[in-house]
Amino acid sequence: MTLNTKLCFCFMTNLTMTMATCKRLFLILLIQCILLAGSCDNQHYIFDVINFGAIGDGANDDTEAFEHAWDAVCGSSVSSPTFLVPGGKTFVLQPLTFNGQCNSTTFTFQAIISLLPYQFYRVLHLLVRMAASIINGTIIAPSNPSEWKCNDKNCHEWITFEHFDGLSIQGSGTINGQGTNWWTLSCEDNEEVCDKKATGFVIAHSNNVQISELTFEDSPKVHISLERSTLINATRLTIQAPGDSPNTDGIHIQHSTNVSIDQCLIQTGDDCVSIGDGSSYIDISNINCGPGHGISIGSLGRNGNNESVEFVHVRDVSFNRSTNGVRIKTWQGGHGHVRNITFERITSHGARRPIIIDQYYCPHDHCSNETSAVEIDNVAYSQIEGTTDKETAVQLACSESTPCTNIFMKDINLRYEEDEEKTSSYCLNAQGLRNGRVSPNVTCLQQDDNF
Ligand SMILES: *[C@@H]1O[C@H](CO)[C@@H](O)[C@H](O)[C@H]1NC(C)=O
Ligand SMILES: *[C@@H]1O[C@H](CO)[C@@H](O)[C@H](O)[C@H]1NC(C)=O
Ligand SMILES: *[C@@H]1O[C@H](CO)[C@@H](O)[C@H](O)[C@H]1NC(C)=O
Ligand SMILES: *[C@@H]1O[C@H](CO)[C@@H](O)[C@H](O)[C@H]1NC(C)=O
Ligand SMILES: *[C@@H]1O[C@H](CO)[C@@H](O)[C@H](O)[C@H]1NC(C)=O
Ligand SMILES: *[C@@H]1O[C@H](CO)[C@@H](O)[C@H](O)[C@H]1NC(C)=O
Ligand SMILES: *[C@@H]1O[C@H](CO)[C@@H](O)[C@H](O)[C@H]1NC(C)=O
Ligand SMILES: *[C@@H]1O[C@H](CO)[C@@H](O)[C@H](O)[C@H]1NC(C)=O
Ligand SMILES: *[C@@H]1O[C@H](CO)[C@@H](O)[C@H](O)[C@H]1NC(C)=O
Repeated sequence: MTLNTKLCFCFMTNLTMTMATCKRLFLILLIQCILLAGSCDNQHYIFDVINFGAIGDGANDDTEAFEHAWDAVCGSSVSSPTFLVPGGKTFVLQPLTFNGQCNSTTFTFQAIISLLPYQFYRVLHLLVRMAASIINGTIIAPSNPSEWKCNDKNCHEWITFEHFDGLSIQGSGTINGQGTNWWTLSCEDNEEVCDKKATGFVIAHSNNVQISELTFEDSPKVHISLERSTLINATRLTIQAPGDSPNTDGIHIQHSTNVSIDQCLIQTGDDCVSIGDGSSYIDISNINCGPGHGISIGSLGRNGNNESVEFVHVRDVSFNRSTNGVRIKTWQGGHGHVRNITFERITSHGARRPIIIDQYYCPHDHCSNETSAVEIDNVAYSQIEGTTDKETAVQLACSESTPCTNIFMKDINLRYEEDEEKTSSYCLNAQGLRNGRVSPNVTCLQQDDNF
């Protein structure tokens, strides 16, 4: 879409005018708009799902009402339409996709602004469309797996936002996947049903997304998945599911760059945050994690895959009784790399394995020994302290063919909570340096007080 087409959406609001006419008037209008900057900022319309037929009594299926409200958002020409799920009500939703690529116009902001000289900034900021979604109410999924209505054979995703460039999702609401009945299904008995298990909330193929304040609960599978997206900020989220619920990762990141996750409380039955293939420039800070499986890079390299993750910074994280703290896990036989990773200011309150690299990841016990491995290079750990639930506080299990290189440790103080004297470390095929106090001693690293 051309720039003037976009601009015309502003001017065409409340006017009957064809696109062609509008384009002819483009220049004049633009000049006017500059002179009157501000007056183009037409109504910040709110599209309340209640006005589109949603009931919100926790029983009625409100999916269609949500679809109609979203169509209205898409069809509107206002610059900042807001999709509202009002507070004090509970809405039942079947799997639903919010597509930012509306027929008339895509929600977009950053791209144009950066192409234009500064003086246009203010005007354009008012003109381009930015979608917002306020979720103050509770959204629940059908509680019985057999009540899920899926488009194709499997559900895979419950609530999806895709193809946005400029989206904010926030509110005091709760998104509850009612996963209990999914968790008890045995995958061995029924692979088909198991395969339908949905990720709760997905942001895909999008840029410039802000997601904040919301609470996510009891997803059938992963709670939030960020896929093939860039520039995502997730802040002040609460994510909760029982510690024994299977595969209920808090936030999973895949094929995404420039993602920041800050100030979140994550208590689930799997990784608090997991960082999968194709992720880079990931910044994770101020997280309370546990119960859960810790913050994990991987798993990578399954079935000989070539998978990589780089430039991950994890800082100011507290682990409370999680099974791992900061973890890197790769399968034998893979390709690719994990590079330039920093873990700092981490506190462990009785986590089982606060520091772990596992290049032999094999959750099912029947993996063959392979000669290739996902390479692990440049991993720095600093200011990591607290108590652990097992003697082995530090575990570096690296591959023989592809040893871990440039592992740096500085100011580590971990203590086995039952008996501090018994705290130990395990090291296999890892190379690197340690500086200052590193307790337990990690003997495969060389002392070097200059980094
Ligand atoms: C886009 O157009 C198609 C075909 O005309 C229609 O089926 C669909 O509902 C429209 N989508 C939106 C979001 O307006
Ligand atoms: C959503 O909830 C917040 C906090 O409860 C409140 O401040 C805000 O006004 C609500 N927004 C709408 C549109 O109802
Ligand atoms: C997103 O997070 C980054 C890093 O924390 C921060 O610099 C940036 O300002 C944030 N963007 C928004 C829109 O909040
Ligand atoms: C992502 O962050 C890196 C490092 O800060 C920066 O060089 C790059 O331009 C960013 N990418 C985007 C799409 O903003
Ligand atoms: C893995 O992928 C990277 C980037 O796509 C490529 O450069 C590299 O050669 C691949 N490695 C293997 C072993 O296929
Ligand atoms: C750890 O979790 C337990 C149980 O939820 C809680 O009582 C305790 O205060 C937490 N500890 C820290 C340090 O957050
Ligand atoms: C990766 O990390 C290492 C060690 O911290 C550093 O020397 C190197 O410059 C980093 N690479 C890039 C591309 O930043
Ligand atoms: C793989 O190698 C380990 C260590 O050398 C050995 O203990 C184990 O039996 C081997 N496993 C298989 C399946 O060959
Ligand atoms: C750590 O282990 C190395 C290698 O065994 C040893 O030289 C060093 O003195 C130990 N450091 C401490 C503080 O015990």
